[in-house]
Amino acid sequence: MSKASDLEAQYGAHNYHPLDVELTRGQGIYLWDIAGRRYIDMMSAYSAVSFGHSHPRLVAALSAQASQLAVTSRAFRTDRLGPFLARLCTLTGQDRALPMNTGAEAVETAIKAARKWAYKVKGVAAERAEIVVCKGNFAGRTTTIVGFSSEAQYRDGFGPFTPGFRQIPFGDSGALEAAMSPNTAAFIVEPIQGEAGIIVPPRGYLARCAEICRRHRVLLICDEVQTGLGRTGSLLAAQQEGVVPDGVTLGKALGGGLLPVSAFLASREVMDVFAPGDHGSTFGGNPLAAAVGLTALDLLIEEDLSTRAAKMGALLRAGLKDIGSPLVGEVRGQGLLIGMEVNARHLNARTACEKLARFGILSKDTHDTVVRFAPPLIITEDQVEAALVAIDRAFAELEHEAGVTRELESAAA
Ligand SMILES: Cc1ncc(COP(=O)(O)O)c(C=O)c1O
Repeated sequence: MSKASDLEAQYGAHNYHPLDVELTRGQGIYLWDIAGRRYIDMMSAYSAVSFGHSHPRLVAALSAQASQLAVTSRAFRTDRLGPFLARLCTLTGQDRALPMNTGAEAVETAIKAARKWAYKVKGVAAERAEIVVCKGNFAGRTTTIVGFSSEAQYRDGFGPFTPGFRQIPFGDSGALEAAMSPNTAAFIVEPIQGEAGIIVPPRGYLARCAEICRRHRVLLICDEVQTGLGRTGSLLAAQQEGVVPDGVTLGKALGGGLLPVSAFLASREVMDVFAPGDHGSTFGGNPLAAAVGLTALDLLIEEDLSTRAAKMGALLRAGLKDIGSPLVGEVRGQGLLIGMEVNARHLNARTACEKLARFGILSKDTHDTVVRFAPPLIITEDQVEAALVAIDRAFAELEHEAGVTRELESAAA
C-alpha cells in the first residue's frame, strides 16, 4: 500500500472495503491509478458519474460559478436556483422541486412530504401515517432509512428505528394492494432495485402500482436516485411504464459527477405542505450545485444520453451473455444499469471484481454474487467492445483458476 492508503487505513473509519487500487486521475470513462495504469470505469461512482470524469462543460460550469458565487444558503435568493428547478420540473413532468445534496436526504424529504401530506391533505389521524416500502430497498444510510431496510447488516446495532414503515416483496403488486390501509400515505419504490443486485420487476409492475395507489389515494414515490437521469434508457425509469409518479427523488448524476446534488420533486398538492421553516439544508440548492445541475440536465438532453444508455446497454448485456462462461449466471438490467450473477459454486463477486481490476475493468460487487456494470452513459460502441474483451479475458483466467472450462461445463449442463 502507498503512504496515502496507509494513512486512510490508519485514520479513516473502516466502513468501506475498497478494491486495492489507488486512483489519482479520471477522464471520460477512464480512471488512472498512481502507477499510471488505466482502467475503464464500470461503476461510475455508484451511477453518479454518468457524464464521465471531468466533463469539460461541467468543469467549466463548476469553475465559472465557483469564481462568481458558490454558497449562500437559502436565506437569500440567488439568480441560479430558479432556472435549475424550472428545468428539472419541466423535464420530469413535476410541478415543484426541493433541492438537497445526497440521495438519502432526498428520500428523507420525500418521507417528510408524504407524512405531512397524509395529515394535512388526506386526513390521516395524527402519528398514524404509514409508508409502504419493498424488501431489498436501498435508499441511503440515515437511521430512518436503514430502519426500513431488509438488510440485516445495514440495521445491525443502529436501532431503535423510526416506526411507520411496512415492507412488502418487490415486484408483487398484489402485495401492495394487500398492504393498503386508510393510513397509508405513500409507496416508495425503486423502479429497478439497484443495490439489491439490479433487480428488474415484471413488466407492468410500476403501472399496476400506480393504479393501486391512485385508487387508494396513496402517493406513488419513485426513488430514481440511481435509475433516473437516463441511466436505464429513459430520463426517468418510470417513463418506460408510462407512469408519472406523485413524487420522485433524484441525486447521483444530478451533480454531474462533481458535487452532491439531489432533489425531491412532486406535484403542487404534495410539495405545498411545506411552509418556511419546515425543512431545509445549509447547502441544498446552492448556486454552485444549481449551475452544475442545470448543465448536467442540458448535457443529458443535448447529447441524448438516455438513447445512448439504451443502445450501449443492449450491446453490453448481449456481449456479457455471449461470453458464455460457466462462471457467469444471469445477466440482467435495463440501459446501462446491469447486474451479472456469478456462479456461486466456483466464485464470489468480490473475487471477480479483483480479477477484473487486474484486467483494467473497475466494478464493484453487490451481495456477494452480483457484479454490476454501470459505466458512464457517454461510453461508445468501441469502448463497450474493448471492455467486453477485457471482461472475457478476466473470466477465462478465473475459469482456469477454478478448474472449469467453457466446453466442460456446457457439456455437463
Ligand atoms: C435508489 C437509491 N436511493 C438513495 C440512495 C442514497 O444516495 P446517497 O448515497 O447519495 O445518500 C441510493 C444510493 O445508492 C440509491 O441507490
